[in-house]
Amino acid sequence: MTSSSTSTPVREIESAGNPTRFARGWHCLGLVEQYRDGKPHQVKAFGTSIVVFDTSEGLKVLDGYCRHMGANLAKGTIKGDSLACPFHDWRWGGNGRCTGIPYAKRVPVAAKTRSWPTMERNGQLFVWHDPQRSQPTEEVTIPEIEGWEDGQWSDWSWQTFLVEGAHCREMVDNVVDMAHFFYVHLVFPHYFRNVFEGHVATQYMHSRSRPDIDPENSYGGEDSELRSEASYFGPSYMINPQQLEVGGKTVEAVLINSHYPIDSSSFLINFGVATRREPGVDPEQARAVADGLTQTLTYGFGQDVEIWRDKARIDNPLLTEQDGPVYQLRRWYEQFYVDVEDIEEDMTQRVEVEIDTEHAVGTWKREVEENLAAMKGA
Ligand code: FES
Ligand SMILES: [Fe+2]
Repeated sequence: MTSSSTSTPVREIESAGNPTRFARGWHCLGLVEQYRDGKPHQVKAFGTSIVVFDTSEGLKVLDGYCRHMGANLAKGTIKGDSLACPFHDWRWGGNGRCTGIPYAKRVPVAAKTRSWPTMERNGQLFVWHDPQRSQPTEEVTIPEIEGWEDGQWSDWSWQTFLVEGAHCREMVDNVVDMAHFFYVHLVFPHYFRNVFEGHVATQYMHSRSRPDIDPENSYGGEDSELRSEASYFGPSYMINPQQLEVGGKTVEAVLINSHYPIDSSSFLINFGVATRREPGVDPEQARAVADGLTQTLTYGFGQDVEIWRDKARIDNPLLTEQDGPVYQLRRWYEQFYVDVEDIEEDMTQRVEVEIDTEHAVGTWKREVEENLAAMKGA
């Protein structure tokens, strides 16, 4: 044993525990079509229960429990543009106002519940959460995917994942985590750069598939090259355009990677893939490509989820030069957990970091070659 190993103190994991506050921002609740079946839907989110229902003015979100005697409004029915409670038929409008009580002479003046700001974009439903009860500004609105409204993209191939026993910060950490792409998502990232600014955090990555992996879980194959630009717009909604070059052809896809917190130690991931319709390519074929990519990504997410479920929260990760800017990303992420007036400059200022991947890729190539040789020998 060397003297340095005896004198180096043991590194301890530090953790302040999961925050009990939930992030300010737009959160995606999934595809609009899943809420358009004429029924109210309960969504457990932000440590509470909310209800989504359809009206002639679009999807609306209210607090989940009736202000009369507390019944679950998601068990009610939609009557006209109001949501009728299953217990005594009080009607609630999308703006939170009670629109009528059939058996009562008068509606009490206080009959108002909380209405949550909503937005429909890219075929998805968003709800605005803010403990300070602000209204969302134009500046933080969710951008439209270019060409979405013109029908340039396939339908979403959509999936959800429930993660219990972890805070959603684990998922956001992925933005800067270059090395896990090799071990967890089974690709070689050979170019990796992060930029954070304002409420947006971006990861630029170029990667190749690993040839030592079951092709079922590695869409595109060995010679494919993926260029990916993934941006979180706010705390929970990532738009990730990707170009996959395979066999001299380029497939353009867009991945949505989003989540909302259920409570302080569980969250629901909503993600989906769409591919750009090419003239002459039939929609079924485009859908098949999207499904293939989704399968690969689902596999990768499944592996992430397994790690998140069992890992410890760690506020003082021990990093090397080849790890990305975890601390800066977390500082960026903190802006969503403080009151607007408490946002500090270093939470929103521009940060740009590129990781030198050369050493990592060299090591990984040798590992893959050894795996391939072992596979052949077996
Ligand atoms: S509890 Fe909703 S109407 Fe009575
Ligand atoms: Fe990941």
